[in-house]
Amino acid sequence: MKYFLDSARLEEIEYAYDNYCIDGVTTNPKHIKMSGKPFMKVVRDIAAWIEKKGLQGIDRFPVSFEINPHLETWEEMVNAAREVSSHSPNYVIKIPCCEQGLIAAKKLEESGIRTNVTLVFSTSQAIPAGKLNAKFVSPFVGWKENSGDSGDYIQNIIEVYKNYNFQTEIIVAAVRNGRQIGDFAAMGADIVTCGLDVYKASFEHPFTTYGLEIFRDAWDNTVQE
Ligand code: E4P
Repeated sequence: MKYFLDSARLEEIEYAYDNYCIDGVTTNPKHIKMSGKPFMKVVRDIAAWIEKKGLQGIDRFPVSFEINPHLETWEEMVNAAREVSSHSPNYVIKIPCCEQGLIAAKKLEESGIRTNVTLVFSTSQAIPAGKLNAKFVSPFVGWKENSGDSGDYIQNIIEVYKNYNFQTEIIVAAVRNGRQIGDFAAMGADIVTCGLDVYKASFEHPFTTYGLEIFRDAWDNTVQE
């Protein structure tokens, strides 16, 4: 299972790369806003960081960027995607899963620009992403579960992709806790993406803390040489 960090903050990306074994990054317009920087500055800064770390190559450390969500036609989306992707060989362009978005993703994949079909909320939406050979598909499980819906479609997408031998990798997105990370790994999802806080909490368990207390107490009460 690959871990992607869901963030556009360089200090978080650096920390997670150095300490949490992350394999890539996903960003969205909310993350760009939270970074406090203009969109193209973030695009340039992350490209420079990739070079500084010697991580060039889409399969070494893919970074997904979402283009302007106001764009409505596939032509506009393709032009915006070309501009962003020209900044790093690692960049993958997030394209919303709608008719014009899927046309844009198909054209981009045909021209060698890799895409991440995003905002996916049903199994049927994930199928065209596989058929057009998008690099990634991003079902947003957390948003669905927060609204009271079930996240079962992740299992379905995994099965459909296996049935038809789709090469598109599944990024389970908007992951909120360690239970989900474990469940999606057991199901065979390729990737999860979440924030630093979710990863940190997933590494810990109250019994580990409790066990440490017991062992510290035993250590302190052991006869010393
Ligand atoms: C994934 O690519 C998205 O950026 C992300 O998971 C969205 O979820 P959020 O609600 O955690 O921002």
